[in-house]
Formats: sequence, structure tokens, C-alpha cells
Amino acid sequence: MTIDDIKTICVIGAGTMGHQISLCAALSGYKVKCTDISQEMLDKAGQFARTYLPERVAKGKMTQEQAELGLANLSFTTSLEEAAQDADFIIEAAVEKIDVKRQLFADLDRIAPSHAILATNSSFIVSSKVADATRRPDKVCNMHFFNPPLVMKLVEVVQGNHTSPETAQITMDLCEKMGKTGVWLKKEIYGFLVNRILAAINHEALFLADIGIASPEEIDTAVTNALGHPMGPFRLMDMTGIDLSYYIGMELYKETRDPKDKPSPLVVEKYAKREWGRKTKKGFYSYE
Ligand code: CAA
Repeated sequence: MTIDDIKTICVIGAGTMGHQISLCAALSGYKVKCTDISQEMLDKAGQFARTYLPERVAKGKMTQEQAELGLANLSFTTSLEEAAQDADFIIEAAVEKIDVKRQLFADLDRIAPSHAILATNSSFIVSSKVADATRRPDKVCNMHFFNPPLVMKLVEVVQGNHTSPETAQITMDLCEKMGKTGVWLKKEIYGFLVNRILAAINHEALFLADIGIASPEEIDTAVTNALGHPMGPFRLMDMTGIDLSYYIGMELYKETRDPKDKPSPLVVEKYAKREWGRKTKKGFYSYE
């Protein structure tokens, strides 16, 4: 199989990442079926595409034809069977819970054509944790996008011991077709490259806020103005989701048993209050 055999892409999850990954693939000429257990999430994803595309055209960033093609290529369904049964490539962007992902990969293995590649967009879970739930571990890898996926250029492709070089190569080629810069990791590591670096920054930022040295706003001001980052760590956590920071910390701690990997008290507090950032209209900042 080569990249030219990929025509239909299935995206699992219409959340923060899934809705934009779907649109990005649809704009790159692929037939995309996006599926989610929540009809409300699918409706929101459809609404996003119908608002975003005309805005891009109005801004002169896209032609009317490109926008129409993107919309025509995109479809939504709550049925996993319908979404995956004729997919050549599947990008799983569901909730960051290992049990959910393992079940999904087992189901996808049963439903999807035998040639289909099953990639996970997980932010930190290596694909060997889900590959053995399938009978095609050679066709399983990580394909990790960054938020917002329509804007951020990087995609991390992680080849585990079980992943065939052909699978990793096709995934890298797909990144290019989607206008992304792929970075190919030939060895698995929890959190890959970028989230490990980001975790180190977030860890220190949360520590400084937790012990009352500076507020989230002050830390963000310091980081944006001194380091030139487009967003400080707290505003970024609000964008990527504090629930995600919580899940990452919990999963990492389960893996390493290192107390420093546990979610910080501030993250635990925000998680418990459902102040998860932009998606709940409140996180470290308010978005009402
Ligand atoms: N969706 C789609 N497009 C968006 C967007 C969104 N949510 N937010 C902004 N954009 C687009 C705008 O349309 C605009 O596009 P054009 O220039 O082509 O017109 C462009 O991005 C700039 O937008 P703005 O001028 O409105 O705002 P900005 O300059 O402040 O940029 C930003 C917004 C792109 C999000 C920028 O702040 C940024 O790059 N922030 C850092 C993002 C980052 O670090 N992402 C990685 C997070 S880590 C992660 O994702 C890990 C993980 O596993 C989840």
C-alpha cells in the first residue's frame, strides 16, 4: 500500500482535536467520516465547519471552491460501523482514557478493512498500549496533531516496535498531504517530544503558582514577553483543556509512580470544579 491508496479517512471523536483534524483532512481532498458517541458534538463540529470556511473565504485565505470541496468531503455519524467500514486510514482522537481506546481499537480492527491503518492522536499514550488489542499491530502507530490542528504545522509520527516502516511512511506522507510537517520518532517514548518539553514548562509554572510566587496571569505575561511564546502556559492549558492536563498527569503517574508526575494541586482543583478551560467557559481565565 502507498499514500495513493488512501482515499477515505475516518476520524474518531469530534472534540477539541477531532473536529479540526477532520476538516483539515477534508480540505486536503480526502473523504472524511467523523464519528462521535455524542450527536451534540457532531452538530457542533458541523457548525464549526460551516462558520469557519466562509470566514476563510471572506479573509481571502481560501477559494470558494476549496471551501465547498472541504464541506462536501466531510460527513458525520454516531455509528462507528458506518464511519469505519470503508476507511483506508483511521485517526482516533477520542478521550484520553486507555480502556476506552483499547476497546475502540478492538472494535475498529473488527470493522475496518484489513488494509486500513489505525493511528491514535493521543497526546501521550504510545500506540503499543493499544496495538495488542488488534490483530494488525503492524498497522498501528501514533499520529499526534497539535491544537489548534488547522493552524499548528507539526505532527508527531511515532513508530513502535510493532509498527511496520510502511505504516509509518504512509502516515508521514499523509502529514505532508495535509500540509503538515511530520517528525518521525522511531522509538516510543511516553509524551513524545513536544508534550514532554511542554510538561516540563507546565510543571514549573504550576509549581510557582501553587506556592504563591506569582499568579497564572503574571506567569503568562512573563513567558509571552520574555520567551516569545504566543501564549503563556496557563492560557495554553485553558486552550488544550485542563481535563487533558489532569488525565496526562494521572496516566503518567500510573506509569512512572513518580510523585512529581501527579497532576498539580491547582490542576486537581480545576478538574474537580469542571473548570476545564475554554471548553467549559472557565479555567485559569474566564471566557463568558
Ligand atoms: N481554530 C482554527 N484557527 C484558528 C484558531 C482556532 N481555534 N485560533 C486561531 N486561528 C487562526 C486564525 O484564523 C488566524 O489565521 P490566519 O492568520 O490564517 O488568518 C491565526 O490562527 C491567528 O489567529 P489570531 O490572530 O486570532 O490569534 P493569535 O495570533 O493569538 O493565534 C494561536 C492564535 C494560533 C492559537 C496562537 O496563539 C498560538 O500559536 N498559540 C500556541 C498554540 C500552541 O502552542 N499549540 C500547541 C499546544 S500543545 C498541544 O496541542 C498538545 C496536545 O497534545 C493537545
